[in-house]
Amino acid sequence: MEDINIQNSIVEKGFFDIAIDPSLDLFFEIEKLKKQKNAIILAHYYQEPDIQDIADYIGDSLGLAQQAAKTNADMIVFAGVHFMAETAKILNPKKKVILPDLKAGCSLSDSAPPDLFKVFKNKHPNHTVITYINCSSGMKALSDIICTSSNARQIVESLPEDQPIIFAPDKNLGAYINKVTGRNMLLWNGACMVHEIFSLEKITKLKIRYPDAKFIAHPECEEPVLAIADYIGSTTGLLKYSEQSTSKIFIVATETGILHQMQKASPDKTFIPAPPNNSCACNNCPYMKLNTLEKLYISMKYELPEITMNEEIRLVAKKPIDKMLEISHALGL
Ligand code: 13P
Ligand code: SF4
Repeated sequence: MEDINIQNSIVEKGFFDIAIDPSLDLFFEIEKLKKQKNAIILAHYYQEPDIQDIADYIGDSLGLAQQAAKTNADMIVFAGVHFMAETAKILNPKKKVILPDLKAGCSLSDSAPPDLFKVFKNKHPNHTVITYINCSSGMKALSDIICTSSNARQIVESLPEDQPIIFAPDKNLGAYINKVTGRNMLLWNGACMVHEIFSLEKITKLKIRYPDAKFIAHPECEEPVLAIADYIGSTTGLLKYSEQSTSKIFIVATETGILHQMQKASPDKTFIPAPPNNSCACNNCPYMKLNTLEKLYISMKYELPEITMNEEIRLVAKKPIDKMLEISHALGL
């Protein structure tokens, strides 16, 4: 009976709807399951603090892909969003890859449907396609090289200066890379709903109120926000900068989950989330935050929901990821 309920719950909701005994010590139970199943938990910085604290590895998209490529665990539990778990599956077809909530998608990934992108790509046949890792396996299969926010500049610069390039799906990251490299890549019109929500006006007021604060931003933010940033980088880049800087106050324009690691690494510093342009908590990613400690526990216990993939697409999608990993390795990234 319980198994039928589990299957129904997955089909209808993408996650289990099972009441958990509230007296259970989930940290202890998850540690036990990790050992029993030779599982590894890979978590993105945008996950809730409890998940970050129980993870075996916490990182940005590049770090997570690199960990997924080298793990010898039998089961990868991905505390992140669908495209990240899918990347892990592309790299590990024989391993079980679990995502605690299958509905943990990504607005940026959704902004690039592969069928529409294929039409665009066919109109520019002499272009190399560099695609941000925040995309579906279908998009990866249409790409020449994948990049993340921590290696996008180096990936673009690995191509000859006169090579025409299509950059997808993030127009903000693409515009930023065009600016720092002097290239003129064709940009797909996609964006992340979390990084487009920051209010330039409110950030400017905060900068005036805290004149010693450093304003640090993720390159998925819009150009006017990036234009006033003291530092621009991936989540790992932002974290490292906050650790190494002598400044004591930081205004942080990215998803708020990263503040947990920043505060842990620098307990004497103050981190202020950059305010959104309305009163909601829109700088929390609604997809990332679908994962909870309870769902993590249940998904490990039942080894579901599992990421599955068409083998033909997987093989084609793997090539541009391998290329990114090779270039990153050669450059020591
Ligand atoms: P990075 O962690 O690679 O900087 O990416 C940020 C992001 O938006 C992931 O969804
Ligand atoms: Fe996607 Fe933006 Fe959420 Fe990252 S923060 S998973 S890019 S919607």
